[in-house]
Amino acid sequence: MDAEHVEKDLAKTLISEDQIQQWLAELARQIEQDYDGKPLLLVGVLKGAVMVMADLARHLSRHVEMDWMAISSYGSGTTSSGVVRILKDLDTDIMDRHVLVVEDIIDTGLTLSWLASNLVSRNPASVEICTLLRKPDAMRMSVDVKYVGFDIPDEFVVGYGLDYADSYRNLRSIATLAPHVYS
Ligand code: PRP
Repeated sequence: MDAEHVEKDLAKTLISEDQIQQWLAELARQIEQDYDGKPLLLVGVLKGAVMVMADLARHLSRHVEMDWMAISSYGSGTTSSGVVRILKDLDTDIMDRHVLVVEDIIDTGLTLSWLASNLVSRNPASVEICTLLRKPDAMRMSVDVKYVGFDIPDEFVVGYGLDYADSYRNLRSIATLAPHVYS
């Protein structure tokens, strides 16, 4: 859906559909260079990364494999605790594979920090991370991210995979919510 379809629910569009798609196209060219001649496995983190993964994969002019993990942070609903459990593990053995983790957002960094060390312990040829969004002011754990789309303020955002109460994931852009939605 477009922002106009839920106009009353949104406060501000932070990143437009065009900006997202332009970054994904540039990222795809960079990945083609950086992984030239190397088989590549994209690992998406459910559920938020579904849109980034689907569009990034289609921007690439080369073969790529895709696999998925579902992970859940223990703790309160709105903040990461950094304690993570695997709800769905990879189907793929990543030993000696080049792995690129695809994320929608790095907020505190706790999830990705945990995930990166979990994947490294499986002895892949390489593990790198790409994320559409990053919140530098919210970072509690530094994460080595190879590709970042947009640094955004520490505000709650929805769209393009990111949800509020499991809605707004299918919004084509990234936006902040109007206060009446969560009050
Ligand atoms: C989001 C996002 C990351 C995590 C980042 O997932 O996709 O996995 O939060 O937060 P952190 O940097 O503070 O650890 P979420 O838990 O909202 O699950 P979802 O993708 O299923 O909506």
